Amino acid sequence: MTLQPTPRALTGIQPSGSAHIGNWLGAIQPALQYQEQMDTFYFIATYHALTTTKSAVDLRQNTLDIAMTWLALGLDPAKTTLWSQQSVPEVCELSWILSCMSTKAMLDKAHAFKDAVAKGKKAISAGLYTYPVLMAADILAFDTTVVPVGKDQVQHVEMARDMAKTFNHTFGETLVLPESIVQEAVASVPGLDGNKMSKSYGNTIEIFLPKKKLRKRIMAIQTDSKTMEEPKDPENCLVFDYYKLFANKEEQSELAAKYRAGNFGYGHAKQAVFEKMNALLEEPRAKYEDWKSRPDDVQDILNEGAKRARSVAQATLARVRSNCGL
Ligand code: ADP
Ligand code: TRP
Repeated sequence: MTLQPTPRALTGIQPSGSAHIGNWLGAIQPALQYQEQMDTFYFIATYHALTTTKSAVDLRQNTLDIAMTWLALGLDPAKTTLWSQQSVPEVCELSWILSCMSTKAMLDKAHAFKDAVAKGKKAISAGLYTYPVLMAADILAFDTTVVPVGKDQVQHVEMARDMAKTFNHTFGETLVLPESIVQEAVASVPGLDGNKMSKSYGNTIEIFLPKKKLRKRIMAIQTDSKTMEEPKDPENCLVFDYYKLFANKEEQSELAAKYRAGNFGYGHAKQAVFEKMNALLEEPRAKYEDWKSRPDDVQDILNEGAKRARSVAQATLARVRSNCGL
């Protein structure tokens, strides 16, 4: 049998805290562009979050929060299927089947696991170790063709591809081979300290901070100690890196000229970043507050999405079971 998949984009975000600018530019915004071009399937990775979350209250709240984040940033439930991972338990069955297509040598190489080892983490759960298998199930259960993600997730998508190939090689053409898509310009959004922006580094700018707090965060971007009078190098400045994320080429050249001319302090540059970022976030911030005031409507959207997603996963699982003799 030759599979003829419809183009479908799928991605997941863990509900492990409020989403930040890195999540927005690296994952959410690119994913939303596909809404206009193909079938889009986006979910909240609740099972994955259990590798770190220890509070049921937090998990429930963060799950709704990520759903509201997607909606506020432009997800249209008429175009995109949005659900919470646990509403499609078929992924757990597929995860087991795929674990039988995965070697320990492959899982030993996974970033999530290697990072935990490198950080000297003692009690590494089997869930964290087999995380790439569950992620592969998330992708393969929905006949996904493309996976928009940040750079750090590319390896996991490659692993999903390998598992699908192994299954297909063993049991015949069954699973669609996915490809990751990384938007190079924003492949890795830096945090306030210049390292990759990440919840685990405490260097984030959260998307829906109130205006004043947003400004305060931006003022905390690290710089060198040049005085206001000194000319500055835009190509070697974290504040300018942020500006590039939000300003067009002309605006960038204008700011670069001010840097080089001197008498232009980092505080001025930060104010320029704040104004750009705030202008873009004002409308989503208001929408977010609106969704927050009606969580039941958000839950309805998730339930509706779960129905649609589940029917696709059930069809894939029927094919998988039949082809592997279950
Ligand atoms: P975090 O590192 O803060 O825990 P997640 O791992 O939950 O973020 O990431 C969710 C999505 O956002 C993934 O697709 C990831 O690649 C993307 N992402 C996270 N941080 C960044 C960043 N700094 N730059 C670009 N994309 C990012
Ligand atoms: N592992 C991803 C992250 O930490 C989240 C995720 C889970 C995901 N399943 C996925 C992303 C499937 C894309 C496709 O960011």
